[in-house]
Amino acid sequence: MAPLKVLHVVGARPNFMKVAPIMRAMAACGDRFAQRLVHTGQHYDEAMSQVFFDELELPRPDVNLEVGSGSHAWQTAQVMLRFEPVLLEFAPDWLLVVGDVNSTMACTLVAAKLGVRVAHVEAGLRSFDRGMPEEINRVVTDALADLLLTPSADADLNLRREGIDERRIRRVGNVMIDTLVHGLAKARARGAHERLGLAPGRFVYVTLHRPSNVDDPVSLRRISECLAEVAARTAVVFAVHPRTRQRLADFALLSRLEAAPELRLVEPLGYHDSICLTEKAAAVLTDSGGLQEETTYLGVPCLTLRPNTERPVTISLGTNRLTTLETLHADLDAALVPRAAAERRQPPPLWDGHAAERIVDALLG
Ligand code: UD1
Repeated sequence: MAPLKVLHVVGARPNFMKVAPIMRAMAACGDRFAQRLVHTGQHYDEAMSQVFFDELELPRPDVNLEVGSGSHAWQTAQVMLRFEPVLLEFAPDWLLVVGDVNSTMACTLVAAKLGVRVAHVEAGLRSFDRGMPEEINRVVTDALADLLLTPSADADLNLRREGIDERRIRRVGNVMIDTLVHGLAKARARGAHERLGLAPGRFVYVTLHRPSNVDDPVSLRRISECLAEVAARTAVVFAVHPRTRQRLADFALLSRLEAAPELRLVEPLGYHDSICLTEKAAAVLTDSGGLQEETTYLGVPCLTLRPNTERPVTISLGTNRLTTLETLHADLDAALVPRAAAERRQPPPLWDGHAAERIVDALLG
């Protein structure tokens, strides 16, 4: 039988850990699949891209579209223009896209117009907040994709409510957790907290990069003040996304944060260091989607600085709580109360390290 031709797309940091287990699972099927990997170049810094290829043992991309940064319209349009000839040349049986970044939506649009079947991994998540660029990307991608591979029951329900045909929906579980299960021993061996002089269970790990938090000077000033206050009580390590660093500099907040004792600002971390800090932290404060899931799997308290989440199972079944700057201190106190082992939540169903195998089955169908 001729191999099934699959074109994978990655663009931004959270894509890399989703594609790695899928490419590995397909490679394990011998000549059943012919795979190609396109990097749109949405993320291009060493710390935002290359380090993940090395750590996750991702193959080098066959093509890099080198799109880089720009406005949403510009970035989306550039990905579309540069992706179209690549798609036409390879003519895959499936385009496989993951997550909710601009590259995901842009490549889906190109494929849908050319009649190439699209499989979307992490389909069906909804924050119901159209002010969030990722929500637009999710809605558009799911409306167009032929196969909607969902991580959890709430995602299936969201898709059904949007009138999507049941036959397009397949619940496969969470591929991020495949990568976590695969990399946990390596992450533990990194000792990232030790290198930073942090005692296990005695620090808060922070990542913040959403436009709603960091693009507004008033919000970012309040966040900075709040972090300095938290650091006066518990050590804080803040891995600063390039967008956040730029805004901190623009709003003249960087030096103030750098001066706060017990607040360590570090560059964006590689995958294993980030998992290591997550597991060893007393709590995580974030606005990232991936960290909400990883903390849930690891049983680490997570405070998500957002008014909503597209990942509600991390609250209903996991360790995640939404927080605001007004309630952060009280929420942190509550999160830091040691919990009995029996109280620790279970990972959601199908967050078991085998989602990629189920994706392979769905494609072979
Ligand atoms: C993107 C995703 C977001 C994801 C995040 C993870 C969209 C709409 N957003 O947001 O869902 O959570 O990636 O990081 O796709 N920059 C660099 N170097 C890089 C990449 C970006 O310096 O390698 C800076 C640039 O100033 C750029 C800014 O970060 O303008 C924003 O980058 P962009 O890719 O537009 O969005 P993210 O905020 O990273």
